[in-house]
Amino acid sequence: MQQVDTKQKKPLHVAIIMDGNGRWAKARGLPRVAGHKQGAEAARRVTTAAAELGVKYLTLFGFSSENWRRPESEVNELMKLLRHYLRSETAELHKKGARLRVIGDRTRLDSDIVELIEQAEALTQDNTEITVIMALNYGGRQDIAQAALKLPPEAKDLAPEALEDVFAANLMTVGIPDPDLLIRTSGEQRISNFLLWQCAYAEMVFTDTLWPDFNKKDLLAALDEYATRDRRFGDTKSVKQT
Ligand code: IPE
Ligand code: IPE
Ligand code: MG
Repeated sequence: MQQVDTKQKKPLHVAIIMDGNGRWAKARGLPRVAGHKQGAEAARRVTTAAAELGVKYLTLFGFSSENWRRPESEVNELMKLLRHYLRSETAELHKKGARLRVIGDRTRLDSDIVELIEQAEALTQDNTEITVIMALNYGGRQDIAQAALKLPPEAKDLAPEALEDVFAANLMTVGIPDPDLLIRTSGEQRISNFLLWQCAYAEMVFTDTLWPDFNKKDLLAALDEYATRDRRFGDTKSVKQT
């Protein structure tokens, strides 16, 4: 891979589809939950690395709106881990100057988890070092559908471009710039109903590394790859990155 100084062209927002926990565990003859535990460790590690590398927004896909299809026992384990993560990580994130935001439909999450989320968001709301966005019970189509339902009646009279702005302001990611770089681990190359609207012009990097093994070096490699990309946004020439 071509080595480029990532300081020159750095993504403001990195979004990650953290995939491969189950396969990581299977390869070791361990139960899937062991992979999820290591996956939570990786999330912790990569959040620290992203902050150190100057990434300002980091979105982590933790649980999709389709992940409820998994066996109940696995869903329960994932929820248990999420509780544990929120309890143990909130203070750490706050110490690092990180702001936590959660996107996704909270109504299906247990009320104690919703409470932990609300507490974490309130505690960290003024932090500016990095914004960590956890996507929990998130679906890109659901995000778009709920935004459509929130549109004011006057929206139908807007010109398409103006409507796009109003529409984006009703998405769960309101106030967060679109991802510049989307990383998916574990060799899968699909978007799995992640940030559909928001990833319109995201650069995509796919790596075979399984999420529990993902570390700062892998993140740096993805940033290096990003720095080689020529983003044109439909134009014929490169659009200057800030
Ligand atoms: C990602 O790992 C974690 C979640 C989707 C919650 P997987 O559990 O999807 O791992 P694989 O894809 O089965 O290896
Ligand atoms: C996507 O991974 C969701 C998360 C990483 C949270 P999945 O493992 O659920 O995606 P598919 O089913 O392989 O597309
Ligand atoms: Mg998977």
